[in-house]
Amino acid sequence: MERLDPDKLPRHVAIIMDGNGRWAKRRGLTRIAGHQKGTESVRDIVRTSRELGIKWLTLYAFSEENWKRPSYEVKALMGLLNRYLKSELKEMLDNGIRLACIGQTEKLPPEVQRTLWQTIEETEHNTEMTLTLALSYGGRQEIVRAVKKMLGDIEKGTLQVNRITEERLSEYLYTADTPDPDLLIRTSGEYRISNFLLWQVAYTEIFITPTLWPDFRKERYLEALLDYQKRERRFGTTGEQTIHPE
Ligand code: FPP
Repeated sequence: MERLDPDKLPRHVAIIMDGNGRWAKRRGLTRIAGHQKGTESVRDIVRTSRELGIKWLTLYAFSEENWKRPSYEVKALMGLLNRYLKSELKEMLDNGIRLACIGQTEKLPPEVQRTLWQTIEETEHNTEMTLTLALSYGGRQEIVRAVKKMLGDIEKGTLQVNRITEERLSEYLYTADTPDPDLLIRTSGEYRISNFLLWQVAYTEIFITPTLWPDFRKERYLEALLDYQKRERRFGTTGEQTIHPE
């Protein structure tokens, strides 16, 4: 396999982890078993990202729409998340990984919220990599929330309408302190954004693989990163003017 160029790694990788259900169905297993196997992929991809020196990794762990799934599946996903956070704390601390979250986390079960905020607090001084979990997240909802916050500041007089720019709006999103993703990966072959980071992916390179999330491990991930490195990022310019962000 070709080697990755360490100087051309994406700064921020975002992933839509899809296909746990299909992975399980093909094996005659329950959807929950698929999510369990998917958690192992989460571990592998977080570890690999850290080893490679990727600074930001955002995982779509639970969407706004996922609340509509059968309650036993929602419950199982929440249980897996809670256990994952508890079991990974040591590894996060040992490897300088800071945990962050985006989304309407106040909708999560109280126990999960407690574990989540505790983990965020305990890892807040880590600087090697930020792992952001999108939980009860929806991109449109995030934009509506930002607009409301902006209007609140206009009413208070701390924001002037003629001062609203793209950069200013970005500061009102959950991702205010996060660079936009350079690479968005979606597993299991669907060609959709599914309400993930709508504002932030304006110039993001997209990689879609038929591999189902539980099968998406280090080797597949390296393939996605190699593919990314072969692309020329133009940000709307001509080929001659290609911009290479530092
Ligand atoms: C999609 O599979 C995946 C999810 C709904 C959530 C992803 C959750 C995990 C990987 C496990 C827990 C998360 C963490 C961070 C520990 P799907 O059920 O939509 O698959 P399908 O489209 O094949 O039915």
